[in-house]
Amino acid sequence: MENYVDPSLAQEMTDATAQQKVDALFSYMEERGQSFYDEVVTQLEHALQCAALAKQNNASHTLITGALLHDIGHIILDEHNADKAFLDMDLNHEEIGAQYLKPFFPEAVTTPIRLHVPAKRYLCKTDASYYDGLSEASKRSLKVQGGIMSGEERQAFEQIPHFQDALTLRRWDDLAKVKGLKIAELETYRDIVQQCVIH
Ligand SMILES: [Fe+2]
Repeated sequence: MENYVDPSLAQEMTDATAQQKVDALFSYMEERGQSFYDEVVTQLEHALQCAALAKQNNASHTLITGALLHDIGHIILDEHNADKAFLDMDLNHEEIGAQYLKPFFPEAVTTPIRLHVPAKRYLCKTDASYYDGLSEASKRSLKVQGGIMSGEERQAFEQIPHFQDALTLRRWDDLAKVKGLKIAELETYRDIVQQCVIH
């Protein structure tokens, strides 16, 4: 089955000003982020919680933007609506999301997005307590994501620029699943995201 990637957001962002790009992105996330990420939070809540953790930890603007947009692949694929068991499938949402955003953001934003799934495989290799702390859904999806990294894979991973940011993003990603958390809204990130947009 072909994966359907929604072209509408990229179309809106192409040949637009930085402000229009952010407008398009935020409207899209508001509209399409209402579906559930997992059992407890929506896609939008998950993105906002992840970005809030980045901001609280004084991350760079590119990493805050990456945190906010790291799962955009899930939304443009609309895979959760197609099948509730999306966490068990591997549709490469991280590659698709990073690729989709590449014309609009620098690699400091898109690389941590692209690597946030292998980052989990890396952390399971290097941090024994990390695997134990994963949610059940995340443990399940690890299998389809390739399992724990080998030593060779780990070495290769460490050669990629921004890999540290991907690891940091991953840890926030795992924490950004708190039901009913009161959280800063999307508009809070407008200036930060706009500063990162390529224009
Ligand atoms: Fe995530």
